[in-house]
Amino acid sequence: MNRVYIKTYGCQMNERDSEAVASQLAARGYRIVRREEEADIVLLNTCSVRDQAEQKAIGKMGYLAKRKRRDPDFIIGFMGCMAQNRGAGLLDRLPDVDLIVGTQRFHHVPDYLDRFREARETGVPVPASIIDLDEETGSQNTIREHLPDRRKVSAFVSIMQGCNMACTFCIVPKTRGSERGRPIDDIVREVEELAARGTREVTLLGQIVTSYGRGEIPPIGGKSPFVQLLERINAIDGIERIRFTSPHPRGFNRDLAEAYRRLPKLCEYVHLPLQSGSDRMLRRMNRPYSRKKYMEIVNELRRNVPDMYFSTDIIVGFPGETEVDFRQTCEVFEEVGYDMAYIFKYSKRSGTPAAEMGDQVPADVKEARNRELLGILEKRSNRRNQELVGTTQEILVEGPARKGPYFTGRTRGNRVAFFEGSERLVGELVTVNVDRATVSSLYGSLALAGVDA
Ligand code: SAH
Ligand code: F3S
Repeated sequence: MNRVYIKTYGCQMNERDSEAVASQLAARGYRIVRREEEADIVLLNTCSVRDQAEQKAIGKMGYLAKRKRRDPDFIIGFMGCMAQNRGAGLLDRLPDVDLIVGTQRFHHVPDYLDRFREARETGVPVPASIIDLDEETGSQNTIREHLPDRRKVSAFVSIMQGCNMACTFCIVPKTRGSERGRPIDDIVREVEELAARGTREVTLLGQIVTSYGRGEIPPIGGKSPFVQLLERINAIDGIERIRFTSPHPRGFNRDLAEAYRRLPKLCEYVHLPLQSGSDRMLRRMNRPYSRKKYMEIVNELRRNVPDMYFSTDIIVGFPGETEVDFRQTCEVFEEVGYDMAYIFKYSKRSGTPAAEMGDQVPADVKEARNRELLGILEKRSNRRNQELVGTTQEILVEGPARKGPYFTGRTRGNRVAFFEGSERLVGELVTVNVDRATVSSLYGSLALAGVDA
């Protein structure tokens, strides 16, 4: 009765948090299973960024609650952002939920599950629902465990929690709390351990990584704490590639742009959230930069690395967004030529300032704007991939592809590639001749030189 299934909604930080919980549970003797039907305990790690993500998790829990009514020993719980955001209110609709654990208390999940288990084994009635949404000093330092039995060629590393900005649309400062960074040495040690176990690529995670260590770690020679951290990781043997998400344009200074040229392991792919190309919208969003400033960062990066790949986050249909505002977003979108973009239709989050603003944009307008940007993205992304046909690309081999005889990996620019390989190449950097491409993927064959396939 100790088999746990964890389902994760939302962003990479959530995936990372789920993995840390899984590894803490495994250390406590729980078994992590890959299928919900095999589990005695199901935990949903939730997202609150948009209403749709919350509704999905609530729907799923409704389904799980039905099973619990047939099988009272079955344990179900919410963790993460929606747990933090809605707390005990979740029990109004879902009274059968056993566990509601917020974003600073993930590491207490094993204790809580032990309590249910003990109660069952001793015949004592199980406790009523456990709700824990407390703040905890130092909780950012608890997200460091990785599953020991699984080699991860590419691993996420959480470097900080929370966000001190107040974008008017965003619920994250409420669900994740204020900024707390982990000490550089702890992060470096974690990455060294990962490297020793075969990790070749790390993605550093935080809501606003450009603020990492600010106010705690002094700048050295004009280099921010975040750039200092990148330098330390660049020096770790075995790590071949470094990525991070997400920076904020406000903290994207010259030292970081130059790091791309100086640090060979830092991949030429940057996720730089724009949100809107209209200065008027940016002001209403409380995003403290202008379109001009954003383009300066893009151009500075291109000066340092001409071959830079760009990705972004956009919100369409923010309250008050007119056709003129939206055209400005399209212009920036074309001008930067994003290789990847996450385009969101604005979703009202109660408790945020934007939810109270007038001029909410009708759903069909949001939908049309969303489609238009997706169209631009598809064209551009396809063009970029077609340009890669006939070139050779360095691929970090991640493993067998889901379908066919192929193996899969990514270029430094984060393009997915498929090729015929072998298990021995997993975790290796190989050179692939790109033979053809679709919008989303490259297809090729291993180049012979330098590869012992
Ligand atoms: N700085 C964080 C942002 C987290 S939210 C990070 O990049 O990790 C991720 C993205 O979701 C935001 O950049 C924004 O584009 C989008 N988003 C946030 N709140 C939203 C809302 N209320 N409606 C629609 N999209 C939203
Ligand atoms: Fe959200 Fe803005 Fe922070 S998008 S996570 S409040 S930078």
